Amino acid sequence: MNPIKVSASILSANFGDLLGDCKKAIEAGCDMLHMDVMDGHFVPNITFGAPVIAGLKGKVNVPIDSHLMIDNADKYIPDFIKAGSSYILFHAEAVENPTATIHLIRQDGCKPGMVVNPNTSEEVLKPFAKDLAYVLFMSVYPGFAGQSFIPDVVPKIARFSKWCKDQGISPEIAVDGGISPKTAPQVVEAGATLLVAATAIFKAPNMKEAVQSLKNTGTKN
Ligand code: DX5
Ligand code: ZN
Repeated sequence: MNPIKVSASILSANFGDLLGDCKKAIEAGCDMLHMDVMDGHFVPNITFGAPVIAGLKGKVNVPIDSHLMIDNADKYIPDFIKAGSSYILFHAEAVENPTATIHLIRQDGCKPGMVVNPNTSEEVLKPFAKDLAYVLFMSVYPGFAGQSFIPDVVPKIARFSKWCKDQGISPEIAVDGGISPKTAPQVVEAGATLLVAATAIFKAPNMKEAVQSLKNTGTKN
């Protein structure tokens, strides 16, 4: 089994020392940094925009993935590319023409990812899957860190992962929401290759142990 990748969602980081906390997460073994961008319209919470990501540009040595939980994503994508995102994740529920959004993201070498909410079928990903670097299954309704994992996501991941194998394609399959060493094994077993976590990393008593435990999911049994 390939090693599981971990992306640290900064939603639970200390925003008073964001760069310091990002460096700690990288030091602990995180493969990526996950930026939860919320606009108070698409989701019931407001976080930050491109300038916060630009503040990290060139100062961290792992890819940055920007998870856009915003309306009118196409309008703001160029800003998130310029800010230094390696990946831009857009919601299937928030975008009218995914093909156009994917083209927009691919400008300047940025890589596209498509996200589905817990109540959106994995079927919506299929027409675009071969053009995506990344698919992301939400295992909570987006808006806040610290919510409980919704297990209904597991069969969706299993069906999509099997379909990808049948098609001979291998987008990164990520899961986001309520991921911890306790919930991770079932999504990895279903085919997830990348785990996004905020609380389980930044609120862990020992960050390094927590990240390593996520990364080792599936390798012990
Ligand atoms: C939820 C965000 C997640 C969130 C994860 O809207 O997209 O990335 O920060 O937080 P935890 O890991 O605490 O569920
Ligand atoms: Zn997220």
